[in-house]
Amino acid sequence: MTPCLSGRSFLKLLDFTPEEIRHLIDLSAELKAKKRAGEPHRYLEGKNVALIFEKTSTRTRCAFEVGAADLGMHAVYLDPSASQIGKKESIADTARVLGRMFDGIEYRGFGQERVEELAECAGVPVWNGLTTEFHPTQMLADVLTMEEEFGRDGMRGRKVTFMGDAGNNVGNSLMVVCAKMGIDFCACGPAEQMPSAELVETCRAIAAETGSAIALTDDVAEGARGASVIYTDIWVSMGESADLWGERIRLLSPYQVNAELMAMAEPDAIFMHCLPSFHDRNTTVGEEVYQKFGLAELEVTDEVFEGPRSRVFEEAENRLHSIKAVMLATLR
Ligand code: CP
Ligand code: NVA
Repeated sequence: MTPCLSGRSFLKLLDFTPEEIRHLIDLSAELKAKKRAGEPHRYLEGKNVALIFEKTSTRTRCAFEVGAADLGMHAVYLDPSASQIGKKESIADTARVLGRMFDGIEYRGFGQERVEELAECAGVPVWNGLTTEFHPTQMLADVLTMEEEFGRDGMRGRKVTFMGDAGNNVGNSLMVVCAKMGIDFCACGPAEQMPSAELVETCRAIAAETGSAIALTDDVAEGARGASVIYTDIWVSMGESADLWGERIRLLSPYQVNAELMAMAEPDAIFMHCLPSFHDRNTTVGEEVYQKFGLAELEVTDEVFEGPRSRVFEEAENRLHSIKAVMLATLR
């Protein structure tokens, strides 16, 4: 039976069963096929959604806006400088106002408690577009990308390794989705940048039910060995101080994804990254880091990023299809 997610918020994957996550990934693939075939899918004609971004975005914002349009909806974008949120109006009051005008609300911002409070007060589905702790819509796109490579049931028993800042929102979420979907997960990085012991314990309990394993290591060879997916993310996340770059470079440079590291993984391993990425000097931040620390490539080398095993742009496209699936499943 197809799980019914109508009226639900999408705040973190821990709130969803493996069957519900499976349904969202399958729906993403279905919507992708429709989009590719040029088949109209305006299932939510006449609805309106609000998109709150307290942090910047390219993929997530565009996926919500294009996804809403494809589904027949109208989207209103609110950036922090153009709204009262947080400055003159609390989250709870904002939620109650927007909940009366919109059918669903996306929120990207700081602590997870903010999106949870928004959902509690809004009376309509709220979707987490990234918080300090979690990035759940990213994970649906990521598993879809992995399954496009290895088959719909092909990830079971395979190992996914997150290299570097494993305790950030993307590392945390990847550990949760792997535990839920029966995929082996390894967080490979220094002890300082690991997911919290509490989240690891929660995920290990889930993994025991789904038949997967959660490992933590600071050893690059151990992390890469046997991995079908090598995943990384930037070393300093949005909302963190730029003063952290020196310390993070010192801690995380050994975990840079380069050709040597990829060669330690499975021969058919793919490289994934949520993006944006610092793989060259063609960004303001990348150039600043280069000028200060002399490193032209950070979490991944340009060779791997641009290489034949990289799936980063497939992954980015899949953000559209999976975000559309979340809106459709919760609003229909
Ligand atoms: N991966 C991701 O969330 O990208 P944006 O920050 O551009 O939305
Ligand atoms: N960890 C990154 C993810 C960006 C999509 C950040 O929070 O900035």
